Amino acid sequence: MASGRIPREFIDDLLTRADVVDVINARVPLKKKGREYGACCPFHNEKTPSFTVSPSKQFYHCFGCGVHGSAITFLMEYEHLDFVEAIESLADSMGVIVPREQGGKAPSPEQRQRSKDLYSLLEDANNYYQLQLKNTPQAVDYLKDRKLSGEVCKRYNIGYSLSGWDHTLKQFANNSPTNTSQNYSERQLIDSGLVIKKDDGKMYDRYRDRIMFPIRNRKGQVIGFGGRVLGDELPKYINSPETTVFHKGRELYGLYEARKNTQKLDRIIVVEGYMDVIALSQFDISYAVATLGTATTQDHIKQLFRAVPEIIFCFDGDRAGREAAWRALENAMPVMQDGKEIRFLFLPDGEDPDTQVRKIGKDAFEANYKNASSLNAYFIENLHERFNITSDEGKARFIEEAAKILQLMPDTLVKDQLISRLAKQTNIEENILRKRQLSSQGNKNNFTSTAPNTGFSRISNREVRQTPVRYAISLLLNEPSLIQTINNIEEIALSKLPGSDLLTTLIEALQENPNIKPVALLERWKNTEFEAPLTQLMKWQPESEDFEILKSEFQGCLKQIRKRADETKIEHLLHLERTIGLSEPQGQALLLLLKNKN
Ligand code: GTP
Ligand code: MN
Repeated sequence: MASGRIPREFIDDLLTRADVVDVINARVPLKKKGREYGACCPFHNEKTPSFTVSPSKQFYHCFGCGVHGSAITFLMEYEHLDFVEAIESLADSMGVIVPREQGGKAPSPEQRQRSKDLYSLLEDANNYYQLQLKNTPQAVDYLKDRKLSGEVCKRYNIGYSLSGWDHTLKQFANNSPTNTSQNYSERQLIDSGLVIKKDDGKMYDRYRDRIMFPIRNRKGQVIGFGGRVLGDELPKYINSPETTVFHKGRELYGLYEARKNTQKLDRIIVVEGYMDVIALSQFDISYAVATLGTATTQDHIKQLFRAVPEIIFCFDGDRAGREAAWRALENAMPVMQDGKEIRFLFLPDGEDPDTQVRKIGKDAFEANYKNASSLNAYFIENLHERFNITSDEGKARFIEEAAKILQLMPDTLVKDQLISRLAKQTNIEENILRKRQLSSQGNKNNFTSTAPNTGFSRISNREVRQTPVRYAISLLLNEPSLIQTINNIEEIALSKLPGSDLLTTLIEALQENPNIKPVALLERWKNTEFEAPLTQLMKWQPESEDFEILKSEFQGCLKQIRKRADETKIEHLLHLERTIGLSEPQGQALLLLLKNKN
């Protein structure tokens, strides 16, 4: 992410001054409900509102589907912006300019200009390739042979790169006498991936005599190409290299077109090839996307879940397809959420979606979805294929492997169901499975039992008050000025209670900037171990708003934490006494501690 490029203080400040209620209300009308605002959730279908916005915390969340976050997150999810774009949009609406950090990875104005020029070069190249297709009958014939309609070729802006070593180069290089287009420098041509420079300095076109598929980002800008040979030569495809604007692990071929061509996108099918996306679209299945010759990443899945609640992975039925499916499953587990669905569809051997849809048509193709395995079913099927649970040893390995994958999953209903199903099938008690997957979680922070995206329930008073640390954090999130009442932060760390590092870090951040909104900290600690517990605790609201009451509750927490810290000190001193003996002051300290304890 580009988060390091914009100064942290600016983001903190932006979130302190922006009002999440205004930001959301401008897009989704909100109704006041007590101290909060509510609406039907814009991220999932519902009839009764469970989407809640808290003006005091500047935080929104949905009890139905679990979405949550700050004004920035909302803009990212609602308007499909990336982090930097969301900040720019928010800053824009408040009439402030986003500053950029000097040095490091911060792009200079020249670099930003360079990216801008890259987009325009790639767009120009895309137009150029489409023009060349029109002028090259054998390329058009190839597409006709593949039964692509003229309309679908246009929809995906399919083009053709001429054979020869330097047509593209000559078309765009600024020192070329035959250049009839806009000028681009050598550097830009290389950076775009369109042109390759050899060690001896000679330059030549990357794509020669190939059908060209432009790849677009979510805004519709061309960021790269896939190029297919017309015959059987190898390599069959050449894809753009990674460039400053093209990252294979992040981009999905056809996602922009799917959004554009589908009125209401409610599911996406992920296929393997360019040709598959296009053939499906020709048969009016306009919601297909493909990875770019790479495995499906977590980033891909997260992006898709932002757009739709249901993903269908479609693979060939062969071994390679099964392996790709398992890798997709491993990457899906950590980003699974309740209310979201993943299914696996395996095609008959030797078919891909392109050949299959041409053979059986749209309706039969879509009817097959109901035979697709759910994530859970596929998970279990696959384990059964690999391990024979009729032997004790096979069963143990089955459980070991299951536990390894389960621990990747956040606590969701889907996971509970999966555990129950596994238990039934293996005749092992659920408790054992649960314990096993917890023990393989190792030292993962288990301070809050529920991961951030689970939603479904408002965190209860009982849960919050279960430990003094958790309660103290919750109180601080609601009333940051309580930090004035803290005088000894060391004993929090010393208590070694679960969550004490989060509490300490929170207090330090508040001491450094007393005006900071907790939601800005949530934004700052995204993708750290603090994100899950902080998100969970943000959802809690105290019954009283009375400062004196909150203060006395907070003091109560600190007292318990101090008690725990004292116990740690006592244990430590007793250990010293038994091993190397105590100095005079240490002995006195121990006596005092023991006295206070009773
Ligand atoms: P057709 O064979 O024309 O039907 O294409 P396809 O889209 O069905 O391709 P295939 O199923 O063989 O491969 C799936 C995807 O893997 C392609 O769309 C490419 O993204 C990628 N791929 C296939 N072959 C190559 C290759 O030789 N090199 C690279 N880099 N990627 C490839
Ligand atoms: Mn194919």
